[in-house]
Amino acid sequence: MGIKRLVLMGPPGAGKGTQAANLAQGLGVAHISTGDILREAVKTSTPLGIKAESYLKKGLLVPDELVVELVVSVLENQEGFLLDGFPRNIAQAEILEEQLKQANDGVEMAISLEVEDDAIVKRLSGRRVCSKCGASYHVEYKKPSKEGVCDVCGGELYQREDDKEETILNRLDVYKQQTMPLVDFYRKRGVLVGIDGEGSVEEVTKRLSEAVS
Ligand code: AP5
Repeated sequence: MGIKRLVLMGPPGAGKGTQAANLAQGLGVAHISTGDILREAVKTSTPLGIKAESYLKKGLLVPDELVVELVVSVLENQEGFLLDGFPRNIAQAEILEEQLKQANDGVEMAISLEVEDDAIVKRLSGRRVCSKCGASYHVEYKKPSKEGVCDVCGGELYQREDDKEETILNRLDVYKQQTMPLVDFYRKRGVLVGIDGEGSVEEVTKRLSEAVS
């Protein structure tokens, strides 16, 4: 049996979203992205979205109590999962551990996608996302056939509010201070796998599938 309980970590723009859906599909597990869930909640103005909006705009972490409640409910009845964007700090990781302990199943693999800061700024400042289906593009590395239009559904492409340069630097700071300690957290538990996230999308995909096979 393959790996069924994974965490995918990495700085903003490391390529988590680009890689996660395929990786999860290959493993037959659910892809759970807290960033996607939160953005959808903001878009549809749910109570969670209204509370989370200002944090997302500034590139700050949404308070743990909001995110944890969300993840716990999504994880219920989930046999296998690839968590993308959660946990984001030690407190969240401990809660996840506690939650999984009750089911007697811990995280089997925590993948850390590693990408240098200058590549991150280039990736994020050039990212464009479909307003309808969420597909992700890049003005240089992954151009749509027609500028500003999604290849998948014809929706309009836009720049995420938190992909403005000033906010990108803020997100990187938040990552280094709050999320990077998780690398050690999972290393101590013997489940950490570091993957080079630089190079083409296909090269990174290959490294990831080798790691989980
Ligand atoms: P979230 O959506 O999780 O954002 P993030 O971690 O900052 O990650 P990104 O989605 O920006 O990047 P990615 O790694 O998915 O890269 P992508 O594949 O798109 O979170 C957003 C916000 O929600 C947070 O700031 C916070 O406010 C809140 N939040 C979420 N989870 C939370 C939690 N647990 N607790 C509290 N708050 C939480 O790629 C980026 C670009 O690069 C794309 O254009 C892509 O085409 C391109 N690209 C990808 N791979 C390559 C490659 N190999 N070569 C060239 N270009 C590439």
